[in-house]
This record gives sequence, C-alpha cells and structure tokens, in this order.
Amino acid sequence: MQTAPIPHPLRELIERETADIKGAQLAVAAEALSTAYRAGLPPALNTAAARAAYLVTRVPATYAALTRATAELPFEPETWLDLGSGPGTTGWVAPCDVTFVETNKAWLGTTPGRWIEADLRRLPHLDPHEAVSISYALNELAPAERPRLIAEAWHLATKALILVEPGTVEGFAHIRAARTQLIELGAHLHAPCPHQAACPMTDPDWCHFAVRIERTRLHKIAKGGDLSYEDEKYSYLIALKEPSTPAPGRILRHPKIHSGLIELTLCTKDDGLKNARITKKNKDEWRTARKADWGDPWSPEAQ
Ligand SMILES: C[S@@+](CC[C@H](N)C(=O)[O-])C[C@H]1O[C@@H](n2cnc3c(N)ncnc32)[C@H](O)[C@@H]1O
Repeated sequence: MQTAPIPHPLRELIERETADIKGAQLAVAAEALSTAYRAGLPPALNTAAARAAYLVTRVPATYAALTRATAELPFEPETWLDLGSGPGTTGWVAPCDVTFVETNKAWLGTTPGRWIEADLRRLPHLDPHEAVSISYALNELAPAERPRLIAEAWHLATKALILVEPGTVEGFAHIRAARTQLIELGAHLHAPCPHQAACPMTDPDWCHFAVRIERTRLHKIAKGGDLSYEDEKYSYLIALKEPSTPAPGRILRHPKIHSGLIELTLCTKDDGLKNARITKKNKDEWRTARKADWGDPWSPEAQ
C-alpha cells in the first residue's frame, strides 16, 4: 500500500499545538471524536482537547489522503482556495500559498496562509483560484447545502476542483453526487474516473482507496494500541475546467498476486468495471502489474 510520510514541520506543529493537553485528556477527546464520526456526526471541536485530538488522530490521515489525491493533479497550481479548512491541512500539500476558509475561529491561522472566517453555507465574495479544494468537509453539511457549495466551488476554480471525503459508503455517496453534478456543469473528470459515463459502481460496493500512515507517539497515546501504522480510506474526485486525458483505467482493489497470474479489479474507459487477468505472456503488462498498487492508474497499452 502507498504511504505518505508526514513532513517534519507538520509533526512539529501538531506537537506544539497539543503540548498543553495531558495524555489522559487527549485519549478521552480522541474517543469522543471517534464516537462522533462513527455516529456520522460532525464533531464539536470547541475545546482545546477536542482540537488536539483532531490534530493528533485525524490530520496525519487527512494529510495523507490529500497527498495521494492531489498527486493526480496534471498541473502545479499557483493559487489555491481551500473550503472547510480545519487547521489548514491542505496547506501542507499545496505547492503554493493557500487561502483557507473556515468557520471555527480557533483554527484560524494554525497553518501559515491567508485565513478567511466564513460559513460555507453563506460564502462571502471570494476571488477565483486555480485550484479549489474541499476536504473532509462535505460530510459536515446538510444534504441540501452540498450541491450549492459544489456549484460555488466549481465557479471559483479556474483550473481544478478537488474533493476528498472519507472512504466510506457515505463519503463516496457525496463524491458520486458531486461527480454527477459536475458533469452537468461541464467538468472534465480527471481522476480517479477514467470516463464521464455514469459511475458503474453498484451497492453494496463503493469507490475508495487507502493510504498507510505511520503512527506517531502522540497517536498511540490518544488511541492506544501498539500498531506502528494505520490505514486511511478515502474517496476523491479531481474535475478540470479544460479537457483532460484521464488514464484509461484505475485499479480499485489490492492486486491479487498468484504464481504466474495477477488479477486486477479495474474501472475502465471502455468497459466500466472489469477484472483483468495479467499473465507473463505479455511481458510489459506483467512488469507494470507487478509494481501496480490499489489506486494507481492503469494504462497497459501505454507501456
Ligand atoms: C473534518 S474537518 C476537515 C478539515 C480539513 N479540511 C482536513 O481535511 O483536515 C471539517 C472542517 O469543516 C469545517 N466546517 C464544517 N461546516 C462548515 C461551515 N458551514 N462553514 C465553514 N466551515 C465548516 C469545520 O469547522 C471543520 O474545521
């Protein structure tokens, strides 16, 4: 599985911002955060301990998901607007300064950048930016508010809109609804979808990916356990203003590796969902499949 190491300055920021919170307090707040997420409720991050729990237990994971998703961008944005920024996780992924929009006063200024205190349901005038992102925030809005925010975000993006949500059935449902809406608005899908046709994923399955994150000392204090890593599941979408050439396929599961055979579950441009059986007969395809991972684009004909 792909990993996304947490940059040293981000680790330092998390340690610094949480230094006053005792281990026991952190563990209680982390449990409350998990309980809220399990119940599908936006957590109330209105205490220093709750925010510390978010920084320690969620920021490395959302950072890692954002890193993997934005690696698919076909250009390097020079301006970036992030909506529902929390502590500004996107700022650690973007290659340029970010304008953050966040309603929770306590987060403003946590990450360097330009901060605007605003409600996503009533956005003030905002300048257009090349990239606009909404990460792990659609799920905190009421159903009727999501399409309005997607339309506004799409309008503000001059090149790309990036959406990242938890890789759950519900998170994917938000991404899929946004996908349909964006196609109607004239978007060119770039990743992970290889096509603009109706999404072929059917219940009870859902389109999601995973990234592995090293667990920090603080993470172990907050959530217990000795495991040295955790896996974050995420769903995402990158929609472009200009026509794009997405990869003709996307790997939707861990490749199944047998002796002399690799099985790939793919979403493809021409055939929708399909299982590919790669054998050593086609040497180039075999070599590519051996290195392939869940979430990677699949374009065997380009090898
Ligand atoms: C789960 S956090 C995600 C933070 C960050 N984007 C990340 O990926 O780590 C969701 C953020 O959206 C913000 N949010 C939720 N509803 C909002 C609204 N109506 N207006 C502005 N921000 C909102 C919350 O305050 C919270 O900081």
